Amino acid sequence: MRLILILSLAITATLASVACGPPIKNTPVADIPKLATIEEVMDNQATTADPEFKKIDNESYTDADYAAFTTAAERISATSLKTKDVTKGAEFDALAVKLHDQAEALGKAAAAKDAAAAKAALSGMKAACKECHSKFR
Ligand code: HEC
Repeated sequence: MRLILILSLAITATLASVACGPPIKNTPVADIPKLATIEEVMDNQATTADPEFKKIDNESYTDADYAAFTTAAERISATSLKTKDVTKGAEFDALAVKLHDQAEALGKAAAAKDAAAAKAALSGMKAACKECHSKFR
């Protein structure tokens, strides 16, 4: 009986860790152009962007948030350019550019500590991720 309990706990723990989203990947920005697969590029994007997307509805942002936005903007600028290496045509590239432009806008918003502009850029980035996934993933 006890063995069954321990086994089922172990299985639950394994399933929970598998269900926890894409692998964490924090490739240094300088090495992003060297990434070999689109999965690695995307895992970096999710690792960087997902925690910032959770702040879209925040009432205001702290200096720590703006610092995180600056880092995310630099990283997503690099990953979005790298995404075009695996081009699937003009529409795909345009969505990678859209993500890139919104990441640059996030960097500017963070430098100016402009909350409304940061929100708009984060929303624009999230929309670009979703649009490309619904069309090409
Ligand atoms: C220009 C198109 C495009 C954009 C923009 C884009 N993605 Fe992707 N993404 C893809 C494609 C294509 C795949 C499927 C890759 C494969 O498995 O071949 C994918 C897969 C993924 C995966 C699964 C990776 C894995 O380990 O299998 C994650 C996570 C992801 N994207 C996150 C993001 C996030 C976060 C953003 C926005 C910050 C984003 N993507 C923006 C095209 C895009």
